[in-house]
Amino acid sequence: MNQEQALDEIVKYINGPDGKDPGSVLQFVCDYLRKVDARYSWVGFYVVKGDNLILKQFSGEETEHKKIKIGEGLCSLAVLRNEIVNENDVKSNKTYLACFPSTNSEIVVPVRFHGEPIGEIDVDSDTKDAFGMRDEKFLEDLADLLSQQVKTVASEN
Ligand code: SME
Repeated sequence: MNQEQALDEIVKYINGPDGKDPGSVLQFVCDYLRKVDARYSWVGFYVVKGDNLILKQFSGEETEHKKIKIGEGLCSLAVLRNEIVNENDVKSNKTYLACFPSTNSEIVVPVRFHGEPIGEIDVDSDTKDAFGMRDEKFLEDLADLLSQQVKTVASEN
């Protein structure tokens, strides 16, 4: 994927008529990333609600992990450490919570509001060792861009 172009497309969507709705922005991002990059097999946003992470918008297969107790899985590590978790071989990681048998790697990037993690972007890939430094930087920029949308979605039921 051309990551600069992807950010431009997302900004264009945010500034368009449907981009006024934060939920539709997050859904657009999930669908768009999956469409333009074959490595992005599943893309979703979890938000922090009390002691849990709650799955909001996502693109890809349904997962049973719509609610994750903070403390479990790679998704929890990203908010507990307030840093990126980039696991290039999930099958060798004991903390990993399996969603799809086809997944081989996963990256989880915190979304912050005033420095505090309020949610995260979670990407699963069927490709082993799928995500590198460029993905980390791109997804961090995206997380910064979407902070307000994630905050709003997190406050909704
Ligand atoms: N694998 C995650 C759980 C969420 S699914 O990937 C959609 C984890 O280890 O926390």
